[in-house]
Amino acid sequence: MKNILVTGGAGFIGSALIRFLINNTSDCVLNLDKLTYAGNLESLQAIENNDRYSFVKADIRDYERVESLIHDFQPDFIMHLAAESHVDRSIDGPAEFISTNIVGTYTLLECARNYYQALSNERKSKFRFHHISTDEVYGDLDEDSKFREDSPYDPSSPYSASKASADHLVRAWQKTYGLPILLTNCSNNYGPYHFPEKLIPLMILNAMEGKPLPLYGDGKQVRDWLYVDDHVRALYQVVINGKVGETYNIGGSSEKQNIEVVRVICDHLNKLIEKKPSGIEDFNDLITFVQDRPGHDKRYAIDSSKINNELGWQPAESFDSGIKKTVEWYLKNQDWCNRVLDGSYQKQRLGLNE
Ligand code: NAD
Ligand code: DAU
Repeated sequence: MKNILVTGGAGFIGSALIRFLINNTSDCVLNLDKLTYAGNLESLQAIENNDRYSFVKADIRDYERVESLIHDFQPDFIMHLAAESHVDRSIDGPAEFISTNIVGTYTLLECARNYYQALSNERKSKFRFHHISTDEVYGDLDEDSKFREDSPYDPSSPYSASKASADHLVRAWQKTYGLPILLTNCSNNYGPYHFPEKLIPLMILNAMEGKPLPLYGDGKQVRDWLYVDDHVRALYQVVINGKVGETYNIGGSSEKQNIEVVRVICDHLNKLIEKKPSGIEDFNDLITFVQDRPGHDKRYAIDSSKINNELGWQPAESFDSGIKKTVEWYLKNQDWCNRVLDGSYQKQRLGLNE
């Protein structure tokens, strides 16, 4: 039984991770989350009354608070997911990304270092600081190659540059201070409880309302899609069995052009929704090409052979099965969607730097 501090546990991936930890392990979890627009405790309703789960509203940039929470909770692992995560928002307002993703990670590293240094040798040997990062740190790919753990960093957006900076800090804290770190860089996740500013949930919700489905540029950009529960199982494998200091790339081997993804969603909706919004016969007719995202990376693809071979992880979900489950989840959980769209965001276009 471990004590696991999860930062950002009210977000999309963090909440899936906590549901997994509570339902599948005997570990105790402390969820440290600031509850920004992207954090929703409702995503944790299924496990919120479990004795092994607790929540604290705190900001990773608040050194005194985080230090005291770590001291009281005595974590064996820190799994760090808290971040500003949306590329379009980083184009409109990079400051919060620099502050949360870089300064926040630095602050957490300092708290972890001070805590780690005071541990007994036995507890030191088992402690891990796991930074959950993104494949976007590697930048844009040509048609044939894939991101490997040793691919050079070449981030394109303020978001990906801030995550790249955080990755560098995490590695430096191991080299300089001996903090036992692990790093994972994952491709695009999708699944339940995904905030509706991201491509897949936005398209499902817009289609249900008969609104245009805005594809940036020509819609031919490629992303490698991974069902969120598969990502969570990979994170658990890495924190338990990963080698200290190592980086593991995680991907779904499911490369799709954005337009293909949106067409699959529309085809599912055509079958699942009997009463379509007025004037709509085929949801595909709602697809609309709009101005491209500035600095838009054309293609991401992940070589996951390291985590496959060394830790035996494979995705369980195919894109076909995962996207069907996801569309069905959004159709059944419109209340969750309405509540998270609290007024500050109404599915308007973001990221044009206007
Ligand atoms: P999300 O935006 O859904 O959730 C982020 C969470 O962090 C929210 O609950 C928010 O309240 C919290 N948070 C933000 N600032 C905070 C602060 N200063 N202090 C404490 N909590 C704060 O993000 P997500 O999609 O779940 O991503 C989680 C992590 O995984 C991020 O670090 C992201 O970079 C990384 N990642 C995401 C993907 C993806 O496809 N979504 C892929 C690879 C890596
Ligand atoms: O690759 C991992 C990253 O995936 C994570 O690190 C990020 O946190 C996560 O947000 C995601 O970033 P993307 O920018 O790839 O995700 P997004 O859902 O915003 O966009 C996916 C693709 O769809 C991208 O090529 C832009 C395009 N897009 C997006 C939106 C919101 C559209 O064409 N139209 C849209 O309305």
